[in-house]
Amino acid sequence: MPWPPASTLLAPLSPWFEAVRRDLPWRAGDLDAAHPDPYAVLVSELMLQQTQVATVIPYFTRWMERFPNPGALAEADEDTLHKAWEGLGYYRRARFLKAAVDSIAAEGWPGDLEGLARLPGLGPYTAAAVGAIAFQWPAPALDGNAFRVLARLLVIEGDPKARAADLRAWLAPALEAHGPSRLTQALMELGATVCTPTPACSRCPLADRCGAHVTNRTAEIPPVAKRAKPKASCLWLLAMEAEGHVLLHAPADKGLLAGLWRWPALDVETLPPARFSLQGTHPITFWPGWTQVYTHRREHVSPLYLRLEARFETAKGLRWIPRAELPNLPLGKRDQRLRDLLATPGQTPLVAPDPATLIRACAAPSA
Ligand code: ADE
Repeated sequence: MPWPPASTLLAPLSPWFEAVRRDLPWRAGDLDAAHPDPYAVLVSELMLQQTQVATVIPYFTRWMERFPNPGALAEADEDTLHKAWEGLGYYRRARFLKAAVDSIAAEGWPGDLEGLARLPGLGPYTAAAVGAIAFQWPAPALDGNAFRVLARLLVIEGDPKARAADLRAWLAPALEAHGPSRLTQALMELGATVCTPTPACSRCPLADRCGAHVTNRTAEIPPVAKRAKPKASCLWLLAMEAEGHVLLHAPADKGLLAGLWRWPALDVETLPPARFSLQGTHPITFWPGWTQVYTHRREHVSPLYLRLEARFETAKGLRWIPRAELPNLPLGKRDQRLRDLLATPGQTPLVAPDPATLIRACAAPSA
């Protein structure tokens, strides 16, 4: 059966959104005009990739105070940039944002959707969201939330992403009819606050026309993808201090942790704990551990602190950093936690890796 026209089916969304819309710091007052600050839209959409609105709000506000326009961002160095992103996760986004803004500073804003999609860090979804919200282009922005809403509304069996092209073509006239920025954000709002995985259909403006609701199938549409069981590892997370300096891995250039400083993390399997004398020359301290959860893996983290009398020549990639600089360095969530623990009293462990083994693991091969 063909889908009913989107502009008719989605008509109740606009008035509903007008009544319930949240006052978000990146949202323009007038949703029927081009956004007064497309840079703010770009910042917000990159932050909102993979991250919830409530988490993003304080980061966005601080970011805009710190880098109020593309020129201010262009002047920021890597550490400042990552420091402002610290805690938000998926740190590549910070670099992409800067690279995108550099390109905009050099060449101006792209004039079409394809141009936006070529900016670093903007996939088809983010390009469409920025196009619709910043520039009022009728570009259908389909993220996981939008796919869920539309799959239920239209009773799409199987993975709705397989119908992405059909859904975009179907949605475009409704964006023209109801306003690209308004309808895009209304759809986002519905997916985030009402048509959630366990939906609140009694509050939904589309409930009377939603195929999944009417047939009582919201629990099975869309089907939930089974996640592979996350891999688990156990590690010692080591804060080593000597002569007022702490030992850290300098940021990697690429990959998930690009831009972030890291504590040495040592696999518990290769550095097994041993009972050791409390009178050792290198006092070691620990705090209760925790499990760090990532998208595809888990880490059981055991934080340790080891104070040495003197620095040693480090293995490649490790650097002694003055302890006073520690608060200014961008660290990931896991490593921030150990930085915070350093300000609290630790305990003396009964079992931990032998300090000599820890030092060897961080020292230059010849040392
Ligand atoms: N999720 C992604 N983009 C969003 C936006 N602009 N407003 C609210 N939630 C969003």
